[in-house]
Amino acid sequence: ADNGLARTPPMGWSSWNQFGEHIDEQLLVQTMDAMVANGLRDAGYVYINLDDGWQRHKGERRQQPLEADPVKFPHGMRWLADYAHQRGFKLGIYSGPGQTTCAGFTGSEGHEQEDAKLFASWGVDHLKYDSCCSHKDTPRDALQPIVRRMSQALRATGRPIVYHACHCGWADIWEWGAQAGANHWRIGQDISDDFDYPGNREKYYFDVLDMLDRGIALGKHTGPGHWNDFDMLVVGLNGRSRELVGAGASNVEYRTHFSLWALAASPLLIGADVRTLDPYALETLSNREVIALNQDPLGAPAEKVRDDGPLQVYAKPLADGRVAVALLNRGSATAEITVSPGRDLGEPWKRYRVRDLWRHADLGEVDIPYTAEVISHEARVLLLTPVPGSTAAPLPDSTTH
Ligand code: DGJ
Repeated sequence: ADNGLARTPPMGWSSWNQFGEHIDEQLLVQTMDAMVANGLRDAGYVYINLDDGWQRHKGERRQQPLEADPVKFPHGMRWLADYAHQRGFKLGIYSGPGQTTCAGFTGSEGHEQEDAKLFASWGVDHLKYDSCCSHKDTPRDALQPIVRRMSQALRATGRPIVYHACHCGWADIWEWGAQAGANHWRIGQDISDDFDYPGNREKYYFDVLDMLDRGIALGKHTGPGHWNDFDMLVVGLNGRSRELVGAGASNVEYRTHFSLWALAASPLLIGADVRTLDPYALETLSNREVIALNQDPLGAPAEKVRDDGPLQVYAKPLADGRVAVALLNRGSATAEITVSPGRDLGEPWKRYRVRDLWRHADLGEVDIPYTAEVISHEARVLLLTPVPGSTAAPLPDSTTH
């Protein structure tokens, strides 16, 4: 979108994955307080996004404007936005382009301007506008005006509001979402709390590896202001979600998931209960070196540069000329994975330094391809820095410009 917002992928927390529609003011306040105390806010997670279930009314709209459920949110949304802003957060809200939202609450269809104004008057900073995957067969020409109508309504308020057009990847939204004013859009249906679900579940849900494969292939459509959204993080859910299917993943698998969402330049929206995060999950979500890759100003997504069956290399170029790589082992046994700057990254470096961003350790300076041992389902994340003066002479220019 050309609204100047989300120049790097939005980071924050969303209520849906863990809580579904069981959300209230106390949960939101405790979530923000916990994120201040445990350092997640200062690590960059500032969007506190309400998902479906904050609304008072179910069913089609009669006369009344949208309202927050007064039992769940006794002080109202303006108060909640103030609470967020006073503590350095931003508040996100949720609606959809139908008569009702997925959970049956009143939607925004036909009231886009009115609702956008209301959200702006509350001080809202982000809107997830969710069609609940119901536009599957809607042709592009019909979906575009739906997406655009709300982006224009938000724009008309004059308040900077990041716009998430959540349409489950229908009508190839990545090809036109930015032009229709969206700052991010989901590339598929909901994630499940699984790394690699072995069964034959009806393919509504995508496990981590499904989502990764789908999103990486769409990399050319992502960039500053307009991001492919791989869906909210499942790190820390440990199979305890109220809403998502899935048995949970191992610590290593959650870390791999986080690393790859970061390298893919997906929004990083925590989906777990941050009040009770286990220490390993907190450490995963707090890795500032990996977060910095996600927030790199170039905004380039990782590409898959090597695909040897279960052993893969993903590479994300950074604004300063360095390259971050993830060495991913999808197999069941420990394996060695090699990355070669020349062959895999097309970089003319003679020498480069290697830093491991999970071990927080410099691994030395090398002038040959780098090989690392990677355990099953792990992604080693390495930052490769060319050593100055070690670049091979460029090939002579064959054409004169
Ligand atoms: C479908 C979306 O994909 C989910 O992320 C969530 O927002 C639910 N709808 C809410 O009803």
